Amino acid sequence: MNRLTARLLDIDDSGIRTAAGIIREGGLVSFPTETVYGLGADAGNSRALDRLFAAKGRPSTNPLIVHLADAREVFELAEFDRVSQFLADKFWPGPLTVISRLKTGSGISRKVSAGLESVGFRVPSNEAARKLLAAVGSPVAAPSANLSNGISPTEPEHVIKDLGGRIDAILCGGSCSLGLESTVLRSMPTGIRVFRLGAISEEQIKAALSGDARILSNGGSIERNASPGQLPIHYAPRTTMRRNAIKTRPDEVRVGFGSHEHPVHFNLSEAGNLDEAAMNLYSVLRAADALAQRAGMNCIAVSPVTNTGIGRAINDRLARASGS
Ligand code: TXA
Ligand code: MG
Repeated sequence: MNRLTARLLDIDDSGIRTAAGIIREGGLVSFPTETVYGLGADAGNSRALDRLFAAKGRPSTNPLIVHLADAREVFELAEFDRVSQFLADKFWPGPLTVISRLKTGSGISRKVSAGLESVGFRVPSNEAARKLLAAVGSPVAAPSANLSNGISPTEPEHVIKDLGGRIDAILCGGSCSLGLESTVLRSMPTGIRVFRLGAISEEQIKAALSGDARILSNGGSIERNASPGQLPIHYAPRTTMRRNAIKTRPDEVRVGFGSHEHPVHFNLSEAGNLDEAAMNLYSVLRAADALAQRAGMNCIAVSPVTNTGIGRAINDRLARASGS
């Protein structure tokens, strides 16, 4: 585990003011959002962004999402077409990231977009996140606050374990309510391209658009060049993982879904509820990984998870974690 040097801040006025000051001065602060914990840095400060990529061990070719407190601030910085604007009005604040072209003079560092001509924007709904972003008063770049290719963090303890010795502060706001990253999309002349399945399902997007635009769904397939973070192995535990497991072998840690299961070590949702499974996913994978490493077990076997709505995003993460 990293030696802790990060300051642990409460999500009260004083903690939020301190966190905002650290970001404005070029520091790195992890903060809660409704999806996962982010690692925030001033999106206009190239040196802070260099430190951010280094702290995560993230390749500088993988672009960052820019977070703002209010959609109107995003519209001042980026060119949103009619469909992007509509989706932003519908789903912000919330777990949606919209990729679009920057206006000139935005002040956002080129390191954020990693050389691409477009940037992803998100207005989170978590109250502490919004207060922090308002207190910073300028765009904040924030990837998930985990080591690159590791499991995303949904509790302050996860951030402490991964990055406690590498960043300046952690705003400790308890568990993330959704537990799965935002849906990343871009509106194109031919339709909407979903780059990352996430907390807002394609069904929800379709329903919102009511036939007004097509979804050019990648169905979770990998657009390596268009979205560099979507590599096949991502979100991976140290232990080998297999999904859609029916039987458990003796050397396996079992992760169940639903109540009908034979003995399991962990359950994503006994009620078979997909929202609950999303919320528990990363905590359970971290705990299963730790148990396997401690007990010398060789594999994490995960039960089938229903592949509808947010279940598709859960299965996307399980597929990446198992490399299958
Ligand atoms: O829920 C979330 O989105 C969290 C919280 C902290 O907001 N953030 C997050 O960031 O998950 P990160 O960096 O871990 O994942 C962002 C994903 C990556 O796969 C990245 O490649 C993709 O979005 N992405 C970001 N900007 C992009 C762009 N301009 N074009 C294509 N893909 C982009
Ligand atoms: Mg991430």
